[in-house]
Amino acid sequence: MEQTQTDKKTVLSFVQASGTPTLGNYLGAFKNWHEMAAENDCIFGVADLHALTVRSQPADLRRRSIEMYAMLLALGLDPEKNIIFLQSHVQEHAVLAWVLDCYTQFGEAARMTQFKDKSARHADNVNVGLFTYPVLMAADILIYKADKVPVGDDQKQHLELARNIAERFNGIYGDVFTVPEPYIGKRGAKILSLQEPEKKMSKSDPNAKSFISLTDPNDVIAKKIKSAVTDSEARVYFGGEEKKGINNLMTIYACCTGMDFAAIEAQFAGKGYGDFKAAVADAVVAEIEPLRTEYERILADKAYVEACAKAGAQKAQYLAQKTLRKVMKKVGFYQI
Ligand code: TRP
Repeated sequence: MEQTQTDKKTVLSFVQASGTPTLGNYLGAFKNWHEMAAENDCIFGVADLHALTVRSQPADLRRRSIEMYAMLLALGLDPEKNIIFLQSHVQEHAVLAWVLDCYTQFGEAARMTQFKDKSARHADNVNVGLFTYPVLMAADILIYKADKVPVGDDQKQHLELARNIAERFNGIYGDVFTVPEPYIGKRGAKILSLQEPEKKMSKSDPNAKSFISLTDPNDVIAKKIKSAVTDSEARVYFGGEEKKGINNLMTIYACCTGMDFAAIEAQFAGKGYGDFKAAVADAVVAEIEPLRTEYERILADKAYVEACAKAGAQKAQYLAQKTLRKVMKKVGFYQI
């Protein structure tokens, strides 16, 4: 991608290696990446350096990282056309992050709401990495001169920080970095917990019935949907607060089938929640089963996965080194 002079934009996205993604991650983001990758030059990374901010067993981190990588391949992203790699394989990220640390004010980093939330939730491990996490994220983005970054609500503030750092640096040293914009693609849906539909669906929820994991077998998917919280009205329509369980299932159904809410309401007019949930389960299985099968197939071929990761890291490193060299020169590191 680096040689061809296309007017395609560089779109960059990293995913945390924090465990098997959920149906919420899939419908909210991954499902749209195919389209995004068809229209742009994409860079996808597994954010294993970021994962270190949370304590885990080395073997777990290793396994989760390669599993997430295999999942990216299973989504159908083409490792030839796109750059898909593990963040820790390109050490330039960490070096640039150090430089950018020195161009980020303490007060700016301290304002990040995710840092405040995470340090409240993990009071036993408020490490400095957690604090500088958004600066490493800025390095991920800026080192590839990414034009666009798809961000959910929780990452908007971090992207804004990356923009501020880029502008500040460019203001001092000239045009070194591209100032990244949010990627506005087809909007992903926000999928909520099946048990407490006021919360986001999350893989870290202690109640396993509240989320569907992308590796859940079909019968588990069906069971979880069957036990999803609804209401006592027994009528399928998109309503207000009191219908949030049904609203969530309708959103899931709409995303999986491509139907709109009116069509769904018509399909289930006069029918109860049992019928509706069975249909939702079938639709989710139809969406997830091929993905799961492909994921398992790819993951079993370790040599292939590793070859892709290696080639991806080489392509990424080539670009990262170019930017880093320029930065090091600009800030005044002695060059020989
Ligand atoms: N912090 C992001 C998240 O939690 C992951 C991430 C790391 C990222 N580096 C990035 C996202 C660069 C976009 C761009 O989801």
